[in-house]
Amino acid sequence: MTDDGTRPAPPLRVLGIAGSLRAGSYNRALLRAAQELAPQGMAIVTFELDAIPPYNADVEMAGFPEPIVAFKAALAAADAVLIATPEYNHSFPGLLKNALDWASRPPGKSPLDGKPAAIIGASSGAIGTARAQQHLRLVCSYLNMLVMNLPEVFVARAQDKFDAGGRLADEPTQQFLAKFLQAFQLWIVRVGGTAR
Ligand code: FNR
Repeated sequence: MTDDGTRPAPPLRVLGIAGSLRAGSYNRALLRAAQELAPQGMAIVTFELDAIPPYNADVEMAGFPEPIVAFKAALAAADAVLIATPEYNHSFPGLLKNALDWASRPPGKSPLDGKPAAIIGASSGAIGTARAQQHLRLVCSYLNMLVMNLPEVFVARAQDKFDAGGRLADEPTQQFLAKFLQAFQLWIVRVGGTAR
């Protein structure tokens, strides 16, 4: 209970998804940094995509595999989604597209529909996933996700920003990510993110 006798609002539940399976992934490391830098009132939990099979309509007809059921349930239980995407050949990785394709099924019953979301990304290149993020936004808009437009997080030359242990060591990037997460919290409240 708070001083005025009301219950404190439960923290916003954000599901963090990284589009990389690599143990040393900068994007998974960026999500870990986001977990640490999340403002009070926001809790970020991550979902690993390694068990998600390639989409196959025959498999869907036979029944969603357990990893997809778990993924959809985690999305449904979250107030919002935070996607950390690498850039592969000027777009976002197939791994991520495949997971979004599964989550979009069946039509009209996707937990992504109306879900507040934000996109971040890190790459070793000079423009820090800007092109991948644009492509991802396009897909998210068709899925009717409510993606925050600004601010944007492009972590360029990631090898200079993370230490050998995979910790975000660059202070300006830490500060910017913290501000971004505060803006995301306001965005989620503004667009009415609720788990369903
Ligand atoms: C890349 N990488 C890359 N980087 C970039 O800035 N623009 C690009 O178009 C590409 N293309 C690309 C294609 C493929 C197949 C691979 C494997 C890599 C580099 C990539 O961004 C870098 O390896 C990141 O570190 C990958 O993200 P994680 O695994 O560290 O999260």
